[in-house]
Amino acid sequence: MNAWAAPAMTTRGRSRAPGTDPESLGALTAAAAACLAEAGIDSARLDARLLAAYAFGVTPARLIGHPEHRPTPAERHRFAALVTRRAAREPIAYILGRREFWGLELRVSKATLVPRPETETVMELALAVAGGRDDGDLAILDLGTGTGCLLLALLSELPDARGLGVDVSAKALTVARANAGRLGLAGRARFRISDWGERVGERFDLVVANPPYVADGDFAQLAPEVRRFEPRLALSGGADGLAQYRLLASGLKRLLKPQASVILEIGDGQADAVAAILEGHRLKVSGVRADLAGRPRAIAVNADF
Ligand SMILES: C[S@@+](CC[C@H](N)C(=O)[O-])C[C@H]1O[C@@H](n2cnc3c(N)ncnc32)[C@H](O)[C@@H]1O
Repeated sequence: MNAWAAPAMTTRGRSRAPGTDPESLGALTAAAAACLAEAGIDSARLDARLLAAYAFGVTPARLIGHPEHRPTPAERHRFAALVTRRAAREPIAYILGRREFWGLELRVSKATLVPRPETETVMELALAVAGGRDDGDLAILDLGTGTGCLLLALLSELPDARGLGVDVSAKALTVARANAGRLGLAGRARFRISDWGERVGERFDLVVANPPYVADGDFAQLAPEVRRFEPRLALSGGADGLAQYRLLASGLKRLLKPQASVILEIGDGQADAVAAILEGHRLKVSGVRADLAGRPRAIAVNADF
């Protein structure tokens, strides 16, 4: 992958439009958008603006309001390096080091999955379940917490709840702990390394999880951002995509209080298979929630004690 050079750093000056200063914020951002579009990135204009705001230390409003502003050479080099990374299809969230989830700004790293909009269906179902209970002081368990997004978003909505996030990745847990601290939720969120529920000796009212569910044969079709950059540990669901649901379900009952609910994210087309796995462990399906495209993406089960 060749490094992208901002137009003012080239000798060709091919993106100079009449009356446009090629070293201005506006021209540099437009040239970066063209480069990203050429690399096949659908969100090229938006990404160019986000990278420019980050590299030049300006707000998006200043970027739009003062396109004539001239960054320093050091800022231009920094911008070029970021654009080169994005053109190589590195996710914008890894480059910026952050992603918004449920209105919260979360730090992300290459050890964590980038939180997805579809995971907000788990939030919706979990909050619907929590809202139907009398007691506000829920104990929540987040299995495979990654950035901590599900646990921290739930704690932000449920001020009397507390919770535990587990992950098999120590590096992901470092990010989750930092997110809890930054969001002022560290007093109610604990994190621990564990292979699903293996090292957890407590019981919970609400368990949430977004397990890895990509089948081995589907990896080739994933976007380059996902396939090349996101951790395999966070994605791989084995031969049929369901291996981690089987492992997770086998230890679930031991973690549940009576009346507990479990909400799991599911991959497209996995609803029936995941329901069958859970029902095999005497967990009764009580609800399913679809994403904006109408595809079932979250499943709720109750302990059938
Ligand atoms: C699909 S990601 C979900 C991360 C986060 N909950 C989210 O929704 O963005 C799955 C997470 O499960 C973790 N994981 C994979 N295998 C695990 C295991 N055996 N035990 C615990 N966590 C595991 C991965 O490290 C990853 O953080």
